[in-house]
Amino acid sequence: MQKARIGVTGLAVMGRNLARNLARHGHPVAVHNRTAARTKALVEEFGDEGTFLPAETAERFVASLERPRRLVIMVKAGGPTDAVIDEFAPLLEPGDMIVDGGNANFADTRRREAALRERGLHFVGTGISGGEEGALHGPSIMPGGSAESYEALGPLLEDISAKVDGTPCCTHVGPDGAGHFVKMVHNGIEYADMQLIAESYDLLRHAAGLAPAEIAEVFRTWNTGRLGSYLIEITAEVLAHTDAATGKPFVDVVLDQAEQKGTGRWTVQTALDLGVPVGGIAEAVFARSVSGHAALREAARGLPGPSRSAIADSGFADSVEKALYASKIVAYAQGFHEIQAGSAEYGWNIDLGAMAAIWRGGCIIRARFLDRIRAAYAADPRTPTLLTDDHFAEAVGDAQDAWRDVVAAAARLGIPAPGFSTALAYYDSLRADRLPAALTQGQRDFFGAHTYRRVDREGSYHTLWGADRTETTT
Ligand code: 6PG
Repeated sequence: MQKARIGVTGLAVMGRNLARNLARHGHPVAVHNRTAARTKALVEEFGDEGTFLPAETAERFVASLERPRRLVIMVKAGGPTDAVIDEFAPLLEPGDMIVDGGNANFADTRRREAALRERGLHFVGTGISGGEEGALHGPSIMPGGSAESYEALGPLLEDISAKVDGTPCCTHVGPDGAGHFVKMVHNGIEYADMQLIAESYDLLRHAAGLAPAEIAEVFRTWNTGRLGSYLIEITAEVLAHTDAATGKPFVDVVLDQAEQKGTGRWTVQTALDLGVPVGGIAEAVFARSVSGHAALREAARGLPGPSRSAIADSGFADSVEKALYASKIVAYAQGFHEIQAGSAEYGWNIDLGAMAAIWRGGCIIRARFLDRIRAAYAADPRTPTLLTDDHFAEAVGDAQDAWRDVVAAAARLGIPAPGFSTALAYYDSLRADRLPAALTQGQRDFFGAHTYRRVDREGSYHTLWGADRTETTT
């Protein structure tokens, strides 16, 4: 009986496309789904693309895999993933691998990896980005798990991943939950990037007075330059689209309440735990949240604000481009800081430059700019922040006047620009000689005797605020 090199269970659109991608690359792939009709439909529709080995039961599916078995599960994160693991793990033998290709929480992945390791099984939490099209034509793949499992899996995953300059957009991220952690931060950055683009659109529309179709052209132009990226490209497409039913711009007939499935929120929750400031990602999550509070917005709609007269300055769009580029650099710097902190906390030893390299193609945040980030880490793998890399420092320095003008214009005209504003505040905070945190420390010591440190001497101090205000050492 012919054996499959790899198997995919869970044949919703991502799983189905991943299985087809494997088959198209000449890898015999076993396919299985809880409801067998989906398996049948896949083979009927796409059976001629390669070798599919359909299986109706979990036992047959497992039996059809060559050893060590490589079993990819593509089901909903959370409970459904645990259910599938519970179903398959008893059927596997030591050395076999379960690959979770969903958007799992990295903490769950760590727990599952530890539990399966006890049973001699490899659990490989794997980030896969690129949506349905990416899964079929070449995603960016971020596998965690043991180095040993990557030896058996890596070549297959690299084969089906996107390629940039011949380099696969797939590499071993690090042990246990590292792959899902990096995918989580990828999504957080995705949120920030989308929010900054949305703010750019809003400013071009309501500050510069451009129509959606005109803004689409602006984005098309930007896409040929340093902002060139998948998200800028599809933004132009969405803005240029006209609603067939009403003849209005598509963007005007869509309800302005953004949804989220949770990976951006996890990125911020995790950053809070790690003590990493990721304001750009947090504001993006909050902006979606604000948009969804319909009753709150309705109640506040009549509050006073400035009248919005269009800015006549023909250079305004260029200023927005600069503000967008600078804010984007900040958002990525924050995301990479979070990866660095997670890697240190969990002992993952993640190569930051390699993460930038595998995001250059296949994934949602793929962009020309990521090669710059790769180069920055190649020049200095220990750089404390991307903002001090020569290229980025110069780019932000050149952009900063325009960036400040745009943030000021947004405030003056009453156009919310939380992503631009927080990015600028982060930049100014990092470069400040002194922060007002000294005053915060004074307040903490005043009301709670929480102590402070001094600029001129070692040690912790407390001032006797309620008495004669002499200083004591603690
Ligand atoms: C990807 C995407 C993918 C998904 C997001 C959307 O990398 O392919 O990030 O994972 O589209 O989870 O997230 P929200 O539904 O939370 O916007």
